[in-house]
Amino acid sequence: MTMLELCDISKNYKKKKALDAVSLTLDNGIYGLLGPNGAGKSTLMNIITGNLRPTGGTVKWNGEDVQKLGASYRALLGYAPQQQGMYEAFSGRRFLAYMAALKGIPKKELGGEISRVLSYVNMTEAADRPIGSYSGGMKQRILIAQAILGDPKLVVLDEPTAGLDPKERVRIRERVSALAGDRILLISTHVVSDIESIAKEILLIRSGRLLDHASVGDLCVKYHADCLEEVYMQLFREEEKPEHEKSFT
Ligand SMILES: Nc1ncnc2c1ncn2[C@@H]1O[C@H](COP(=O)(O)OP(=O)(O)OP(=O)(O)O)[C@@H](O)[C@H]1O
Ligand SMILES: [Mg+2]
Repeated sequence: MTMLELCDISKNYKKKKALDAVSLTLDNGIYGLLGPNGAGKSTLMNIITGNLRPTGGTVKWNGEDVQKLGASYRALLGYAPQQQGMYEAFSGRRFLAYMAALKGIPKKELGGEISRVLSYVNMTEAADRPIGSYSGGMKQRILIAQAILGDPKLVVLDEPTAGLDPKERVRIRERVSALAGDRILLISTHVVSDIESIAKEILLIRSGRLLDHASVGDLCVKYHADCLEEVYMQLFREEEKPEHEKSFT
């Protein structure tokens, strides 16, 4: 059993409090990180993956500070960031080879591992085409393939379904859901249906605070709601959004 602990994590960007005293323990299974734009989802994921240092607090992997674990922590981690800084001229296969090298996957395992992740996301046929020619869904699938190179024990996916059509959303959801098992999966989204049926626990975040976290069933009971969408609407009410994020309908 593996365990990821967030101990009193805070993050300030100058005066802006992006995260405020987030504490949480995750063990194997799928966690859905749900919250509106600017809630702090990406900031939290960047801190968990060690790409960003918290202003305060500690991230622990099996009881050890991940900053002390360093490379051995990075080796068990897979991360698909929200910003797709992708290598448009690279083929999918070349991009994966590049990422696998960065991850320190041994040369003799490289070919087999790349084939495995390509087939996992159903991108084998398109693997030798340039990424620039891929659809949004194909790019996301390559990004997920990259995140699961080396069979990581912790997989962090930041909005893997953003901008995708419903069919592609379902396809990604199925692939992601099948990754559950002997690992921790953390997936952010602001679309309830992306995670409602697959997450064992939903983490609700707003303005840098973890408002609540529980299974969909327990959240519905607690908030007297029929579904997660209703819980979401209760917690993230329109009037609490910053002015520029309010919808006009
Ligand atoms: N590098 C930065 N400098 C200053 N402020 C930042 C920086 N990165 C994020 N922020 C601010 O911190 C807050 C949290 O941002 P974050 O990107 O973590 O939110 P998010 O939940 O991922 O949003 P989205 O759903 O739009 O991706 C926001 O108010 C954002 O403007
Ligand atoms: Mg984000």
